[in-house]
Amino acid sequence: MENHASVKFLIVGRTGWIANMVAALLEQRGERYAFASFRLEQREACERELDELRPERVLNCAGVTGRPNVDWCEDHRRETVRSNVLGVLNLADCCAERGIHLTNFATGCLYHYDSGKHRPTAEGGFPFTEEDPPNFFGSYYSRTKAMVEELLRTAYENVLILRLRMPVSDDLSPRSFVTKITRYEKVVNIPNSMTVLTELLPVALDMSERGLTGVYNFTNPGSITHNQVLALYKKYIDPEFQWKNFTLEEQAQILKAGRSNCELDVSKLLRDNPGAKIREVHEAMEEVFRRMQAQGIRPQKAS
Ligand SMILES: NC(=O)c1ccc[n+]([C@@H]2O[C@H](COP(=O)([O-])OP(=O)(O)OC[C@H]3O[C@@H](n4cnc5c(N)ncnc54)[C@H](OP(=O)(O)O)[C@@H]3O)[C@@H](O)[C@H]2O)c1
Repeated sequence: MENHASVKFLIVGRTGWIANMVAALLEQRGERYAFASFRLEQREACERELDELRPERVLNCAGVTGRPNVDWCEDHRRETVRSNVLGVLNLADCCAERGIHLTNFATGCLYHYDSGKHRPTAEGGFPFTEEDPPNFFGSYYSRTKAMVEELLRTAYENVLILRLRMPVSDDLSPRSFVTKITRYEKVVNIPNSMTVLTELLPVALDMSERGLTGVYNFTNPGSITHNQVLALYKKYIDPEFQWKNFTLEEQAQILKAGRSNCELDVSKLLRDNPGAKIREVHEAMEEVFRRMQAQGIRPQKAS
């Protein structure tokens, strides 16, 4: 990592899960990068650091996601808006004024299946494209993300918006979707789009380097169910593993906010990254578990 002036990449979100994976990739690539020290919403500090470090591109991996989960955002609305709306807009605006390209790690949790055109593809439906207006308003977190996306998309030509969903890493990080669902007492069983980070984070960096802008659904193609993921976990990591399902209605009883379930259309991502290795989600997930097994990753006790 570089500490002196003029870096190629500035990463916002120093302590975050995705930020640290992005930093590790930049390190591997031998790139000049630094972590930002400002808070997203601090305009003067943000301007000062952009002027001091003069990054060619900014990677925003910062945002409020809620701890232990997005239910937190329901009761902390101002804090959520401050980071996810005011903060992200502030960063985009400061970058735009300086002609700096910004990649925003965003979310695809803006949709949920309906009983019409957007029912699951296995039932004859169609995945959601970047042109489809959000239709999931069940959590305050998702609402702030939809609001900021609309503002970024319509006002800032310097911004690349990558819509991740249910990101999965090659380990049992508590942030990884796999780890989360292995720790729940009961899980729903619904097909969803997922982002296999080992495949897609390098693509994000390449898209940033190429200066692409606009909104991209940023997941592997296709959708995979919770049970299919857990069956892979059982096959590769923990043969003793058992799980129980429950319905969406039963799940709603134990959650404060709703959760998005949807499949995203990734035609645009594949069209604009023709050389990238982005596998169909079942294949990509099988590879994740093979890599975990090869690393000797064993089941963890919940912390
Ligand atoms: N993980 C997922 O399941 C998932 C799925 C889809 C999209 N995403 C999006 O991807 C992004 C990164 O996610 P993640 O999983 O890496 O999250 P994370 O581990 O919770 O990290 C978020 C980072 O953002 C920082 N942050 C929050 N508010 C900030 C502010 N106002 N100014 C500066 N830094 C701030 C946090 O720092 P402090 O702790 O110091 O506040 C932390 O370093 C988020 O925007 C998230 O919405 C994540």
